Amino acid sequence: MADFDGKAPSAGRFEVIRYGFGRSRLGWRCAAVAFLKCLLFAAVVCVAHASGRPGHAAIASAHPLATQAGFEILDQGGNAFDAAIAISAVLAVVEPQSSGIGGGGFWLLRRAADGKTVMLDGRETAPLAARPDMYLDTRGEPRLSASLDGALAAGIPGLPAALVRLSKDYGRLPLAKSLAPAIRHAENGFAVGLRYAKAAKDRESALRQSPAASAIFLDQGIAPQPGFHLVQKDLAKTLRRIARFGHAGFYGGTTARLLVQGVKDAGGIWQAGDLAGYRALERAPVQGMYRGIRITSAGPPSSGGTVLLEALNILSGYDLARMDALTRKHLVIEAERRAYRDRDLYLGDPAFVNMPLNRLLSAAYAAGLRVAIRPDRALPSAALAAAPEASRQGDDTSHFSLIDRHGNLVAATLSINNSFGSGFVPPGTGVLLNDEMDDFATAPGRPNAYGLVGGGANAIAPGKRMLSSMSPTFLETKDRTAVLGTPGGSRIISMVLLAVLDFAEGRGPESWVSVGRFHHQYLPDVVEYEPGGLSDEDIRGLESRGHRLKPTGYRYGDMHAVQWDRVRNRLSAASDPRGEGVAEVK
Ligand code: GLY
Repeated sequence: MADFDGKAPSAGRFEVIRYGFGRSRLGWRCAAVAFLKCLLFAAVVCVAHASGRPGHAAIASAHPLATQAGFEILDQGGNAFDAAIAISAVLAVVEPQSSGIGGGGFWLLRRAADGKTVMLDGRETAPLAARPDMYLDTRGEPRLSASLDGALAAGIPGLPAALVRLSKDYGRLPLAKSLAPAIRHAENGFAVGLRYAKAAKDRESALRQSPAASAIFLDQGIAPQPGFHLVQKDLAKTLRRIARFGHAGFYGGTTARLLVQGVKDAGGIWQAGDLAGYRALERAPVQGMYRGIRITSAGPPSSGGTVLLEALNILSGYDLARMDALTRKHLVIEAERRAYRDRDLYLGDPAFVNMPLNRLLSAAYAAGLRVAIRPDRALPSAALAAAPEASRQGDDTSHFSLIDRHGNLVAATLSINNSFGSGFVPPGTGVLLNDEMDDFATAPGRPNAYGLVGGGANAIAPGKRMLSSMSPTFLETKDRTAVLGTPGGSRIISMVLLAVLDFAEGRGPESWVSVGRFHHQYLPDVVEYEPGGLSDEDIRGLESRGHRLKPTGYRYGDMHAVQWDRVRNRLSAASDPRGEGVAEVK
């Protein structure tokens, strides 16, 4: 956690905050000085408040080098959007288990100058040769690893297109400048951490199947130990081509040729037209209110914002603050059950499916769902009208949150789906490809890697974007602005929900990222909880109300959040204690 009263390295003009106003035994001279300082502080706050600018910046990301790169770009005169390019690209290099230029993501943006709020959609697409049954064998049974490991599992990457668009439409600096820190880290290498080492161990066999991936990410075919120096020369070359040629540096020319050839040689189905046709898209985010908080979050093709808002709409009918902790948790679980069910029934790529978003996000719909919620008893998911099938999402995703001194905001969640994505690198590119195709409902009627149930709305089709749970989110009250999000597959939405409820209680980023986590996603009909996420009393109480509980055995999520207290003009930032990230205010 960093905040302006605490770790902020340069106190700058707000230093007076640390002095406070309650010094005792001041002489008249000191009192006069203190009084003048108070006046100065008040003036600074008024000016900052009136101008709507924090005057400083806050960044929270999953890796120290990414946070550092963000500040490096801000120091060079870049804005939040240039910094977001630098952070996204550095995460792609230093956290290859979680995100990458072979993957995609969603960047939720607010431009302070005109208030424009938009979601940049860099989600992967299914290749044009993709078919709904491409992961089934001749008997219609799922080929289990085909949508997870190797070239066939990869969707067409969106991250490079999104970074180019971010630079062109919102940035101030040349793209090459914003990509420079990532190129440097790829070229010179860096020491990997414990998370990398653990993920590489988990995915060792998939990585071994790709000679290029094995040569880059393993140490002579073995998952390396923390401290291993990871150098990615081919990735540096690819990043340089993007820096030089922009969109065409990835989706055309040498990079595209190497990507398509590599995928085809390994049994994949990419064609040059897949890359040539890829576009990052601007979309309207979804918005709603919960107890005076305006929530802005990811719209389709992410389910994140819709499920989050539907659950909050249901919960807004209860005065949670006045309830006992157990009933409160029970109601959160019941709200999640219903909102995740609607995810599975209705949501998909808006270019392919008509979704009843207005209905799902209406207060009347939430009121209807509330009618069947009992405060003392769980309703089994099987008793709700059935959603057609199950799907799951990879949880090795990444997130960062940032606010610059002008008040520009970025919340970005980036993914290659499972750890190290598909584990496949097309030779000569250094680009680790995603396994995001598994986020489609690959085998109707069956759960995917995360047990989510998904239906025809999320069936595979050529050029379609697979449904996501990524939920980069802004929260705003009359006094506070917050930017947050987390990786975690299907659990992303429930983690953000718990953070919103914590924000509503008046707590700050350090608390949101630390809050104990539990999760229900309609199917499987269980409440998952991390160690410490539920007390023994909660567990007994929820079981007696009819819930089935399942401990995860490990703490999950890696939330990164920043807050701007606009009344005190104070920034604070926090990175999840479960991860290796760094949050700073400067
Ligand atoms: N691959 C994780 C998600 O998109 O939700």
